[in-house]
Amino acid sequence: MTYSRIVGTGSYLPEKVLSNDDLAQMVDTSDQWIRERTGIHKRHIAAEGETTCDLAEKAARNAIEASGKSISDIDLIVVATTTPDQVFPSTACLLQSRLDIHGCAAFDVQAVCTGFVYALAVADNFIRAGSARCALVVGAETFSRILNWEDRGTCILFGDGAGAVVIEQSETPGILSTHLHADGDYANLLHVPDGVSKGYDKVRQNAAFVEMKGNEVFKMAVNTLGRIVDETLDKNGMQKSDVDWLIPHQANIRIIQATARKLRMSMDQVVVTVHDHGNTSAASVPLALDVAVRDGRIKRGETLLMEAFGGGFTWGSVLVRY
Ligand code: UT7
Repeated sequence: MTYSRIVGTGSYLPEKVLSNDDLAQMVDTSDQWIRERTGIHKRHIAAEGETTCDLAEKAARNAIEASGKSISDIDLIVVATTTPDQVFPSTACLLQSRLDIHGCAAFDVQAVCTGFVYALAVADNFIRAGSARCALVVGAETFSRILNWEDRGTCILFGDGAGAVVIEQSETPGILSTHLHADGDYANLLHVPDGVSKGYDKVRQNAAFVEMKGNEVFKMAVNTLGRIVDETLDKNGMQKSDVDWLIPHQANIRIIQATARKLRMSMDQVVVTVHDHGNTSAASVPLALDVAVRDGRIKRGETLLMEAFGGGFTWGSVLVRY
């Protein structure tokens, strides 16, 4: 049986930091409200001219270096992003050129905050099917570019960043299972109303930015993430106590705490970066993974449960023997 396993992780955050106090100068909010309702203290914001591919490249190079593989070993590139540099080429193709890799398949996956989980599942399936041996999987976003900086309900939540993993073919797992879901009926609760094909409303200019019914998304996220945890453990015949680390999408500390409670996990077993990064959409799970790998918390042989929920709605999980 062929599996894929994670051989290296990397990440990158833009230099510029935006604090809650900075935001309080821009919209009617406060550091206290943001901390209490979301757990976020600060977020990183890409500099003018700094693109998603710039962030992706730095995270990718970190992951490749950590993996001990050489760039020429990579035969598949999947980038999860909602904020590509351009309509086309895909950010994965731009990244491929930056890394001086030629000829292998490279494409983007768009599942908003669940993007990295989708991308990792796709790459895992390529490897299990024998279509690739060593894949670079990146979640990268400049989400700040699609925020309405006058909407306090959304602009306080998001940040920019990138995370990456290198996975390779292995005789032993590795990635134990992946679970992907979507329900497009909920599109209007979290979306960017306008777009390339639909056109851009000249009167309602903010329709090019994220709109969210936060409260409804919150309830859906808590319920759905609880269900995906059960589905993942059932599929693998595992108990809640078998999971060493929960690596959740970093949207809101209250959603993360609710999922941890469902798993009966102590918050000491949950990787939390939302206070420092905010919600970096497709970058949030690989960023959190890399932080906990590099600070020594996550060790080889441990069982990791990654889960995410986002626009679409999309949701999913990846269970990993690290
Ligand atoms: O990445 C995946 C998708 N996204 C999410 O998972 C986000 C899910 N939603 C959330 O995290 C939360 O719903 C929010 C953090 C967005 C909002 O928190 P909440 O506890 O659900 O607040 P709320 O929307 O019910 O608003 C409560 C009050 C309202 O005032 P009134 O009507 O009670 O007077 C809001 O107008 O808080 C007000 N409010 C704010 N106050 C200060 C909303 N945003 C802010 C703000 N600063 N930034």
